Amino acid sequence: MSLYNIAPVTVDDYRAIAKRRLPRFLFDYIDGGANREEILARNCDDFAAITLKQRVMRNVDSVDTSTQLFGQSMAMPAVLAPVGMAGLFRRRGETQAARAAERCGIPFATSTVGICPVDEVAAASRQPIWFQLYMLRDRDFVVEMLNRAAAAGVETLLFTVDLPVAGMRQRDYRNGMLGGGLPGKLSKLAQLLSSPQWVYDVGLRGKPHTFGNVADKVSDPNDLDLYKTFIDGQFDPTCTWDDIAWLRQQWAGKLVIKGVMEADDARAAIDCGADGIVVSNHGGRQLDGISSSIGKLPSVAAAVDKRCTILLDSGVRNGIDIAKAIALGADSVMLGRPWVYAMAARGEQGVVDLLTMINREIELAMALMGVNRVEEITQELIDSQPV
Ligand code: FNR
Ligand code: LAC
Repeated sequence: MSLYNIAPVTVDDYRAIAKRRLPRFLFDYIDGGANREEILARNCDDFAAITLKQRVMRNVDSVDTSTQLFGQSMAMPAVLAPVGMAGLFRRRGETQAARAAERCGIPFATSTVGICPVDEVAAASRQPIWFQLYMLRDRDFVVEMLNRAAAAGVETLLFTVDLPVAGMRQRDYRNGMLGGGLPGKLSKLAQLLSSPQWVYDVGLRGKPHTFGNVADKVSDPNDLDLYKTFIDGQFDPTCTWDDIAWLRQQWAGKLVIKGVMEADDARAAIDCGADGIVVSNHGGRQLDGISSSIGKLPSVAAAVDKRCTILLDSGVRNGIDIAKAIALGADSVMLGRPWVYAMAARGEQGVVDLLTMINREIELAMALMGVNRVEEITQELIDSQPV
């Protein structure tokens, strides 16, 4: 922030603060995408290429951004997406995010590979949190995790299907965190030494630094080499739709399949009994060279034909993007990096401030498009859609 820029407003503002505060390897882990990061850029560029319609003289005195998802009321159509290691970005980060989400009236989804275990996160907020699951090879352990989540009051399970293997994140190699050997370790030490605020907040006061849900399975989340070994060794790449059918039997709550990009896969998810899907390319972190999720949304929504709830993430950066996603067929969006940058920059209050701004943006966009209710944001309000 310069002398005249006194308050962060946009996701980019929070990103800039997060970059200064975090050790380089953690910032790169959040900020980076797969391979050449083409899809990372395309996710946002394709939102920008869509234009909405301005409509006038429609009495917009009672704009209401609230909506319902899986029977849960929300102040706006947005959910905080699950993010691994959030408790390394800010002290007990998942609990701060859960509180911020509650204050803003939207759900928070905690990750399998969060630092705080699901019960610690659930205890931080009075509203139910969502739990995100990766299929581990040890199915008994998966069932244990599901039971633990249910006991913590979780009603909505996000099952992520787009990470049978971890994508190629070139930054993690470049900065020496993957395969860096001794020079990598020295580089990391230098990065830590240049991040004193982080060392005090997270390094010293944010312990324990374990993956709370899978603490018995992996030794040190601070070591990306070990983390990758954990994912390669424990995440189950043999998964097929049969495993979703199995999961459906294990989980009585809502089941949402995250990471669907193709119409056929959306139909398969519905056939397995999914209550919802997330159209997502994992924030551009998995396969580079594919389409943006917003580009895929219309065809997936047509295939789903209202048979299940549709969420969308990857590239949503403001309230206007949210309006575009709703207009093209999503019931809600999920936000990944936006809340993570805000959290890393300013903790719980940063997330609240960013979400408040995003809510205001949706409200204004609705008023200026001439609608009062989220259900009135339809395809009619899309002016042009080049993607
Ligand atoms: C993720 N994402 C993710 N997804 C998931 O299902 N489980 C996880 O543990 C993680 N971990 C994770 C870590 C980090 C640092 C990021 C940035 C993302 C993906 C996330 O849920 C979401 O799909 C994307 O972040 C959405 O894209 P945007 O909003 O970041 O563009
Ligand atoms: C990631 C995994 C953990 O995107 O989802 O890094």
